[in-house]
Amino acid sequence: MTFENLLISTEDGLATITIDRPKKLNALNKATIEELHQAFKNLEMDDSIRVIVLTGSGEKAFVAGADISEFAHFSEEEGERLAAKGQELLFDLVENFSKPVIAAVNGFALGGGLELAMCCHFRVASDNARMGLPETSLGVIPGYGGTQRLPQLVGKGRAMELIMTAGMIDSGKALDHGLVNHVVAQENLLPLCKKIAGKIMNNSPIAIGKAIKAVNAGFAEGEDGYAQEVKAFGECFSTDDFKEGTTAFLEKRKASF
Ligand code: COA
Repeated sequence: MTFENLLISTEDGLATITIDRPKKLNALNKATIEELHQAFKNLEMDDSIRVIVLTGSGEKAFVAGADISEFAHFSEEEGERLAAKGQELLFDLVENFSKPVIAAVNGFALGGGLELAMCCHFRVASDNARMGLPETSLGVIPGYGGTQRLPQLVGKGRAMELIMTAGMIDSGKALDHGLVNHVVAQENLLPLCKKIAGKIMNNSPIAIGKAIKAVNAGFAEGEDGYAQEVKAFGECFSTDDFKEGTTAFLEKRKASF
């Protein structure tokens, strides 16, 4: 399937989705959100894909936010629908995706762009990356989960300051705050993501999917993360991956999942 606003490449179990609107700094318009939804749905069904890397086209931006030109004239109801639909179609879908999704933050990640990076399972940034939630400078608040995920990742006080000042932090500060896991030169960004993906692919995809669910349960309203962990831990015992993983260990060989 081809997309107007995305480039998708696959190699050795890794799918790379590149948001491709460089002239608009990869801003998330409605069509791009819908295409991302479809792309993730396709990759979920594709058993040959084990890890997804999400990045932006060009050297300047990951995603510079939701497309301001599309919502500047929205009413209150339309604004609420925009946030609800986007969260359902994309941000919640990615956060709860059963395969690991790594954000390769290759430049500006602002507003909806940072929110997109934050719903990925973890983030790697290039040293030119700049991150922030500038929404209050536009008279609005983050609407794609930013008020929830930023405090989870960096702590409440830092999130409050970033949101209130509408400021940007550089990759060094993002690393210091735990917002990104690694910072590398831009040319090393995708190679590092590929290397991490390779390490992930040595492990059981079933166990990884269950671990994602258990970790997320700890942050979800009304869910008991510990109970989810116990249930998922038990479920692992009836999987072929568990048999293979434990047998391989006892036979002193590398497991093949
Ligand atoms: N929505 C729509 N268009 C956007 C956009 C967004 N979020 N971010 C950038 N663009 C567009 C610009 O309008 C411009 O289009 P044009 O060439 O047709 O005028 C193009 O992308 C390049 O951006 P420009 O502002 O010229 O680049 P810059 O290097 O001077 O500044 C930024 C880069 C990221 C600082 C600046 O683009 C910016 O502040 N963007 C908005 C960030 C934001 O508020 N995001 C949150 C939205 S909720």
